[in-house]
Amino acid sequence: MDSSSSKITLLNISDKGKKIKTDLVAKETTLVIKLNGKRLAVLLVTPTDVTALACGFILSSGLIKEMADISSIKEIGREVEIETKNIIEEINPDEQIFTSGCGRGILIYGSVLEERSDSKFSLSPDSISSLMKEFQTMSAGFKTTGGLHSAAISDGKDIVNFKEDIGRHNAIDKVIGDCLLKDISLGDKLILTSGRISSEIVVKAIRAGIPILISRSAPTDMAISLAQDCGVTLIGFARGDRMNVYTHPTRISDLENNSPETLIERIKALKEKKQAVILAHNYQRPEIQDIADFVGDSLDLSRKAAETDARIIVFCGVYFMAEIAKILSPDKTVLLPDSDAGCPMADMITVEELQKLKLKHPGAAVVCYVNTHAAIKAESDICCTSANGVKVVNSIPAGQSIIFTPDKYLGDYIAKQTGRELILMNGFCPTHQTITVEGIRKLKREHPQAKVLVHPECSVNVVAYSDAAVSTNGMCQYVKESESKEFIIGTETGIIHRLKKENPDKQFYPASKRAVCPNMKLTTLEKVLWALEDEQYKIEVPTEIAIHAKGAIERMLYVL
Ligand code: 13P
Ligand code: SF4
Repeated sequence: MDSSSSKITLLNISDKGKKIKTDLVAKETTLVIKLNGKRLAVLLVTPTDVTALACGFILSSGLIKEMADISSIKEIGREVEIETKNIIEEINPDEQIFTSGCGRGILIYGSVLEERSDSKFSLSPDSISSLMKEFQTMSAGFKTTGGLHSAAISDGKDIVNFKEDIGRHNAIDKVIGDCLLKDISLGDKLILTSGRISSEIVVKAIRAGIPILISRSAPTDMAISLAQDCGVTLIGFARGDRMNVYTHPTRISDLENNSPETLIERIKALKEKKQAVILAHNYQRPEIQDIADFVGDSLDLSRKAAETDARIIVFCGVYFMAEIAKILSPDKTVLLPDSDAGCPMADMITVEELQKLKLKHPGAAVVCYVNTHAAIKAESDICCTSANGVKVVNSIPAGQSIIFTPDKYLGDYIAKQTGRELILMNGFCPTHQTITVEGIRKLKREHPQAKVLVHPECSVNVVAYSDAAVSTNGMCQYVKESESKEFIIGTETGIIHRLKKENPDKQFYPASKRAVCPNMKLTTLEKVLWALEDEQYKIEVPTEIAIHAKGAIERMLYVL
């Protein structure tokens, strides 16, 4: 499994003012432990040493006594499967105890993802500092024992509820529960916690309807992304007059007016002042699509980037898209609001792998999907997007063999459409893999009239089951021209905002609610403003690579 930290962008507030910083936070993922073919537990963990963790977990739980009891261990992605030599009896629920440790509790994320706090509750950095001071002086149990966690609920002025416990979860459940018992409303309150903020802590705030969560300690990456998606303001390292605001800083007053409306006005004013244009991909958050000058698919956006006479291009998308803009407009400043917005598919191919394949197939034309790094484009003859892949492949003389990289599913789709045999690689989009035929069939039973539109990045059987496999702009066009009133949308869910806006009389059902690209969702209104204010993060492409990559991109634009 992957490493233990992720890079994030945050707003740091201290006596020296406010500053945008990048920082490392702990990574958090799910780990499924299977014992003798059955799911024993799903833990939220740091994704390192997971086999050791799984073995330790079953030993600590009393399910084995020693290593010799284990006959096999397999680590596959985020799962560890353990087989034991002897049959282990079913765990008797009466004997189970939820521990006060990190793995404790029953957590059902499902519906949480659909909840969003739009509470207008806000407070100043000074109020946060003084509440934190008061909170610490109240932690008597910690001072005397050194072993207790504390949590408090505050209305922004006073602490209205305070509890301690050996578990950080328990302390939070106690303050929330006590407010429930005392009928204290929580939508206009904040939680202070002495513990780390992992995703389960954010879930508690969301379920209780509490819009602000503050800790002395650090959050995990999963906690940050959950808080961002559900409208929770997450503040960590609140010590003295310093603090890091990870999400939704609009609830911090006195910073300058930070309401979404003001943010939008400030973005618009700065955009004009700095002669900037905002380009947004169809998968961006609704509020980003709404402030953009152009919203479109990869092809559309690369054309817009080539045409614009703006001085600055703020690219609300992922790295490879901003890189294309820079390659096509080298004299312009191209900004990506979050420098971590990458694309896992683009990371699935290296220059060395492609070079090896070229050596194995001398004379083959190399077609690369735009979802690649500039260095791969520089090694390719021509680029393509999902909108023009078929045309691009058809433009290559019959008889010439073709290497297609990196998406094996888009490659398979183009091969079927063109009747050409393509030499494929093994790349894929993890987000589109959440879309399955079973999921679509279920929706089709509920909405039998709905047309099924999927992106060609979906797996082969999903594409085969669809009414049409089209790029994201292709979907917008299909819906506009179709007589149908209902559509099952098999791509990243962000596009549904645009589809609804353009077709208010039609209904859209996401083929999978889990088809959310975490990279596309890194862009927020605050980060767009910071990008314009500080002209960050500037995209640069080494000249040698840019020259060759430009050839492949321009050949694609020429084919159309
Ligand atoms: P299009 O918008 O070109 O269809 O691409 C989808 C995609 O996954 C971009 O990353
Ligand atoms: Fe990459 Fe898939 Fe996200 Fe597109 S949706 S940017 S292919 S990870």
